[in-house]
Amino acid sequence: MLKKTLKWIGIVLGSLLGILLLVGGALYYQGSNNIDQIFEVADSRLVLNIPSDSAAVAEGKRLAVSRGCTECHGTDLSGQLLIDSPAMATLAAANLTPGKGGIGKEYQDKDWIRAIRHGLNRQGRALAIMPSVEYSHINDSQLGAMIAYIKQLSPVDNELPERRFGPIFHLLNNFNDEFLPGRVVVHDRERSVDISPGITVAYGEYLSTMCQGCHGPTMAGGIVAGAPGSPPSANITPDPNHGIGNWDEADFFRALRNYERPDGSEISKGMPEFVGKMSDEELKAIWLYLQSIAPVAQAVEQ
Ligand code: HEC
Ligand code: HEC
Repeated sequence: MLKKTLKWIGIVLGSLLGILLLVGGALYYQGSNNIDQIFEVADSRLVLNIPSDSAAVAEGKRLAVSRGCTECHGTDLSGQLLIDSPAMATLAAANLTPGKGGIGKEYQDKDWIRAIRHGLNRQGRALAIMPSVEYSHINDSQLGAMIAYIKQLSPVDNELPERRFGPIFHLLNNFNDEFLPGRVVVHDRERSVDISPGITVAYGEYLSTMCQGCHGPTMAGGIVAGAPGSPPSANITPDPNHGIGNWDEADFFRALRNYERPDGSEISKGMPEFVGKMSDEELKAIWLYLQSIAPVAQAVEQ
């Protein structure tokens, strides 16, 4: 009797293990498939007026810093290794210069547009981690200035390893499209007319698309994104108890530039530095916008 029971337990456990292996294998396969999928973007969407005057180049440089490019690609945009773990991935933010190991020599305007706005490499495969869901909202004149700046970078030799994905990446990638933002970008989204910069709610709303990946579409926070080990994002709606409803504009500036809350406590670097590098005008516009949105009375679960 006991022997028979043991035998059945053996069969049940054996089948469970078999099923697990099958499911795991299927997920792994699907994950790999995702990575190799090719996305086509219509040629008409890959044209843009790229200026070359020095004012545009200077503005492009300011944008590259204040939109986060230099945080991942390095101060001189010559790239750097971001993840180096056989189980997870080997992944470098590309060298954007025309130096050795860089893509600057070969890339044409349409390739820059495809990479930044659509999150796709030249073959049409989704770039990993590169935050193009946010960048797909950058308007034509600002994207044009950014590309103008990148196109005139001095060559920097920096050869980086090819991207490689490990088993953990493959599994996580099945549950979270955010690893390959190019899969999530709406490639044929209607482009709105260029919005003029200024201290207006409208310009603040346009800029706030840079916050949504981490703070969520309603800005209520609670999302774990960004650097490993960083806390969930904060509620930045005007709710007085759970959001920033009791802050004034100076508090907002101090939070973004000095990492300090009104009560003196420290904000972690889970909140990226590039936001504090936006111009005064841009931060004032975001502040105006954040005050205009609906408060969400919801605490962030730590
Ligand atoms: C959070 C980190 C991060 C930020 C911020 C970021 N990138 Fe990237 N970027 C990457 C990574 C990682 C890759 C390589 C992805 C891959 O090979 O799958 C990449 C790839 C690229 C490529 C394409 C390279 C190729 O092989 O086709 C370009 C162009 C690029 N980034 C430009 C930019 C610009 C311009 C900005 C700012 C507007 C920016 N990136 C911001 C991480 C980042
Ligand atoms: C890469 C993810 C990321 C992006 C992008 C991001 N944030 Fe954050 N932010 C965070 C995280 C994480 C925290 C919480 C840090 C902590 O609790 O120490 C935070 C905290 C904050 C805080 C402090 C709030 C408080 O009560 O402590 C403010 C203000 C803020 N973010 C504003 C913004 C704005 C405005 C933008 C867009 C222009 C933005 N953030 C973009 C991740 C992000």
